Amino acid sequence: MKESQRYQGRVLVTGATGKTGQWVVKRLLHYGIAIRVFSRDREKALALFGKQVEIVDGKIQSSSDIARAVKECCAVISTLGSSAVTGESSPGEVDRDGVIRLVDEAAKAGVKHFAIISSLAVTKWYHPLNLFSGVLSKKWEAEEHLRSLFSKEGRSYTIVRPGGLKDGEPLLHKLRVDTGDRLWNGFINRADVAELLVISLWLENAKNRTFEVINESEEPQKSLEQCYDALPPDFPKIV
Ligand SMILES: NC(=O)c1ccc[n+]([C@@H]2O[C@H](COP(=O)([O-])OP(=O)(O)OC[C@H]3O[C@@H](n4cnc5c(N)ncnc54)[C@H](OP(=O)(O)O)[C@@H]3O)[C@@H](O)[C@H]2O)c1
Repeated sequence: MKESQRYQGRVLVTGATGKTGQWVVKRLLHYGIAIRVFSRDREKALALFGKQVEIVDGKIQSSSDIARAVKECCAVISTLGSSAVTGESSPGEVDRDGVIRLVDEAAKAGVKHFAIISSLAVTKWYHPLNLFSGVLSKKWEAEEHLRSLFSKEGRSYTIVRPGGLKDGEPLLHKLRVDTGDRLWNGFINRADVAELLVISLWLENAKNRTFEVINESEEPQKSLEQCYDALPPDFPKIV
């Protein structure tokens, strides 16, 4: 199958101007997928991507801006991330409320798949990273909202919880995946996280999965598709 035939339909990328988001755009372009970027800074997005992507500018605090951005998109990939303790770029505003607003508008607009970067240790309220305005707990709340809304009515989601993010090319490491938030540390290239998010668009066994991921060893990979092979679906939960 040609790379360009793997996924038909427009994908909205939020957080595209960030380090991981730029990799998401690169990997979507690699697969020939139509891209719309939602950014608060049109000039920045234009300088980074030029005419390769469609740009919709707006604020993550505005439901109507988000509604304009998700219109006629088949999927959303979000790599949004907070960068300040308070204000419009705080964890509460971006990692929780911004993502929840995005999930709600995407569901209303008929988006079929929603893939998002979260974090290792997101369920651990006592983790030191939570000293940064409760960032992990805010991400967890957004995860829960996504799981509840996109596991229904023909929709699906993928939640990737990476370890510490590093720069570098994709497909240079064998990855270790796990579920249940049991990994305490480890690193992974942003480019590999981007690849996992992008291939979740068309892999059936990436649908409705929440998982942790870190580097296992330096070892060139032809594809990251096998990372999804052994992952159990989030539902139905065995109690
Ligand atoms: N750093 C780590 O080791 C690590 C580990 C695990 C998980 N993560 C998570 O991984 C994600 C991506 O990380 P990264 O390093 O790629 O992040 P990044 O480079 O800081 O990118 C964050 C993106 O979010 C956007 N953003 C921030 N505040 C916004 C707001 N108020 N309104 C709209 N957009 C806003 C930024 O837009 P602008 O370009 O306009 O600023 C940027 O596009 C984050 O959620 C982060 O928490 C990070």
